[in-house]
Amino acid sequence: MDHLSLPEHGRPQNEVLEDLKSFAADDPDYKGRRIWSLVYHLDDAHDDFAAAAYRQYSSANGLNPAAFQSLKRMESEIISMLADLLHGGPDTCGVVTAGGTESCLMAVKTYRDMARKKRHVSRPNMIIPATAHVAWFKAAGYFDVKPRLLPMGKDLNTDISKLKRMINGNTVMILGSAPEYPHGTIDPIAKMGELAEAKGVPLHVDACVGGLILPFMEMNGIELPEWDFRVPGVTSISADLHKYGYTAKGASTILYRNLDLLKFQMFVYQDWPGGVFASPALLGTRPGGAYAAAWAVLQKLGKQGYRELAEQTTQAVEMLVAGINGIDGLRILGNPQGPLLAFGSTDKALNIFAVADQLEKKGWAVNRVQNPNGIHAMVTAKHRNAAQKYLQDLAQSVETVLANPELAQTGGAATYGMMAHVPLRGMVKNKVLDIFAEMYRAGGGGLDLKESGSPTLPERWMAKYVNWRAKRG
Ligand SMILES: Cc1ncc(COP(=O)(O)O)c(C=O)c1O
Repeated sequence: MDHLSLPEHGRPQNEVLEDLKSFAADDPDYKGRRIWSLVYHLDDAHDDFAAAAYRQYSSANGLNPAAFQSLKRMESEIISMLADLLHGGPDTCGVVTAGGTESCLMAVKTYRDMARKKRHVSRPNMIIPATAHVAWFKAAGYFDVKPRLLPMGKDLNTDISKLKRMINGNTVMILGSAPEYPHGTIDPIAKMGELAEAKGVPLHVDACVGGLILPFMEMNGIELPEWDFRVPGVTSISADLHKYGYTAKGASTILYRNLDLLKFQMFVYQDWPGGVFASPALLGTRPGGAYAAAWAVLQKLGKQGYRELAEQTTQAVEMLVAGINGIDGLRILGNPQGPLLAFGSTDKALNIFAVADQLEKKGWAVNRVQNPNGIHAMVTAKHRNAAQKYLQDLAQSVETVLANPELAQTGGAATYGMMAHVPLRGMVKNKVLDIFAEMYRAGGGGLDLKESGSPTLPERWMAKYVNWRAKRG
């Protein structure tokens, strides 16, 4: 394949900007509230404000905090505001990172290194709920820390009945989520904290989703279990700014109870020919624009602004929960207490992934969850305006699928159904890896797990599966 060359001569700026605009033609319609993940959009004026702040510092680099004192000031103030919100003490400290995944990775690296140094742990493990965000599995792989999974109970809550027995001398950390991604449930952090403290093991709370909404829901009078630094065993918390903080992309935080913990996150190399090097987190160059936008949005919205957004989100969630419960054959999965939820089917004749396909046909971008199968929604304040239409389309989609059971054998329903039923999970992994890697050829295209060329992906999967079965006899 021929590679795309740089233009021989530069092009007029407005033409380039028009091109960029046109690229978005097929992107999800987030301004029309047609997507339930990835984007936390308020309105154009809010975006313009964050962009103006971003622009002021888009060239500034947080790599060297001694150089850009402005960025260090913003970072310190952001951490301080978050520490206050999450009931930190006088010693609470932390770092602004580029996203939730970076914050999660850092916690694992910190506690692995701490256990190495203090307890000489050489085969580290960490105890994480099965519902932990995939970033934790990524961290486990990157840092070679074995995940030991706390199972889901029948109610899909994290079952911690075996937690005490699972902790051993090689356990470097325990994780709880507030809330977890698949169903929006808040893990039993208080009980986990008690055990963690008794065993002297750090407890991290992944509040990448909840960090900037649960505190405001609580201020609005909603009763929630305690999950932040009020729980004595909690040693660190990750909280994203670029989700329910409604800041520009590229901003999250990780906070520690004290500097003794944070020190293990830091990297210092004193003998580098390039100079003595110190870095607080994963990145080298750190995006000044994202810090400035985050600082500015926190200031612009303030507690009152976030409380109003939390209230609107709560209303949207309540509308959705009531509407979903009112549709025969659907049920909410687990026990969502925050801004996100998932729902599945209670009726064998109703394939939930076929419902997802129908919703997509009606112009909604849909995320699917598995084990149990369901449709997922991260609800934002502005989804309040979309909830009624979504529920109407959902009810119609359910009717269509019940009337046309063959829909479970086509499109996304077939692909996802197939993936769930292939017994060799390594085969699923390899297949997804192949497809995904293909996208990263220079000039590579998009990913479509539903229909990727001819024969369709489900057909190719089926052929592979049948071959495998045939070989086994
Ligand atoms: C609970 C939780 N933790 C971590 C992350 C990772 O965040 P990011 O996508 O910003 O890397 C997510 C993302 O949805 C999440 O839901």
